[in-house]
Amino acid sequence: MKSIDEVKDLTGQRALIRCDFNVPLQGGEITDDGRIRAALPTLNALRDAGAKLVIMAHMGRPDGEVNPKYSLKPVAQRLGELLGVEVALATDVVASSAQETVAGLNPGDVALLENVRFEPGETSKDDSERAELAKKYAQLGDIFVSDGFGVVHRKQASVYDVAKLLPSYAGYLVQQEVDVLKKLTTVPQRPYVVILGGAKVADKLAVIDNLLTVADTLIIGGGMAYTFVKAQGHEVGKSLLDDTKLDDCAGYLDRAEAEGKKVLLPVDALCVGENAIDFSTFTLSGDVVEADITALPSDRSGCDIGSASAELFRQEISGAKTVFWNGPMGVFEIDELAQGTKAIAQGLVESDAFSVVGGGDSAAAVRAFGYNDDQFGHISTGGGASLEYLEGKELPGLMVLEEER
Ligand code: 3PG
Repeated sequence: MKSIDEVKDLTGQRALIRCDFNVPLQGGEITDDGRIRAALPTLNALRDAGAKLVIMAHMGRPDGEVNPKYSLKPVAQRLGELLGVEVALATDVVASSAQETVAGLNPGDVALLENVRFEPGETSKDDSERAELAKKYAQLGDIFVSDGFGVVHRKQASVYDVAKLLPSYAGYLVQQEVDVLKKLTTVPQRPYVVILGGAKVADKLAVIDNLLTVADTLIIGGGMAYTFVKAQGHEVGKSLLDDTKLDDCAGYLDRAEAEGKKVLLPVDALCVGENAIDFSTFTLSGDVVEADITALPSDRSGCDIGSASAELFRQEISGAKTVFWNGPMGVFEIDELAQGTKAIAQGLVESDAFSVVGGGDSAAAVRAFGYNDDQFGHISTGGGASLEYLEGKELPGLMVLEEER
């Protein structure tokens, strides 16, 4: 991958930059601006070098339709505050507003195009549709800078196809993320402990396959743990369950045992009544009950790991030399259900291990708990992207930067 430092003279050049500004919002307010901050080194360097900045980014999954709910307006405002400059937000992606906004830029100015996923071509599975849109993007820049590490696993027009049309470079964030994750896949200091949480068991199974080879211990918590718990033969009440993955989970547990790898699952859980959580406002009604994992109440749902699990996981972390963590242990946005996620964060902060926190939710959690980024080895901006990297997959957005053109 070529670095932006290799560009001879950026003065007056239009740098078309892909960032990942898919930040969490509540009531239109950004609750964690980590992904925006992470882009600042690249953006500042380009501005200092006299480039005109044209930024492409997405928010959510609007499925190719213009939807004000997914506008980048709050991002433009926050980015402007952080850069200390006005950010001109185009009201469309590649049409007249984008073209006029870009045409009006002076060296050092910053424009942000509207959510690239408002264009159906952006996420199209049809190569020619994506290529058509990429041509329009390419008309808005002289060089392409890929700095949205969180989306490099997506074969999308603003990540992949546009890179084929312009001289393309990796931004500092992409370089830094790749350097850290490369360390984890090649020479992790041992013991190497991987902690997986969050809700999507299906998304994380592939990574477990690979991690069982490289890691020494796998800790599984969060919503995804209940499918493993059920695979071990315990009832999980109303907890999150992916019935279609029970055999896979049982297979991984058997394989871990056969290969002498440790897999730690929760031994207890905090359970709430069915539908007791309003996920739009993160409010909880009713009480929280702690139960042994072998005796979860049939009418309740496990929404955090219990105190014995938190202690067990912390102990394991304290002996590690390398830790990768992706996915919260519970519904950390609600105080009563945040103890497991807090215990992991605190365990990482106290340990001497090189710790990498991956994924939007885990990163948002540690910041919401008041930790600083520099208390961890590295906070990755990529959730799916960092997992797919660790899985050993080729990521389209990185591959395309490595191609000789
Ligand atoms: C993320 O939030 O992980 C990235 O922004 C990618 O978003 P996506 O999963 O909607 O492609």
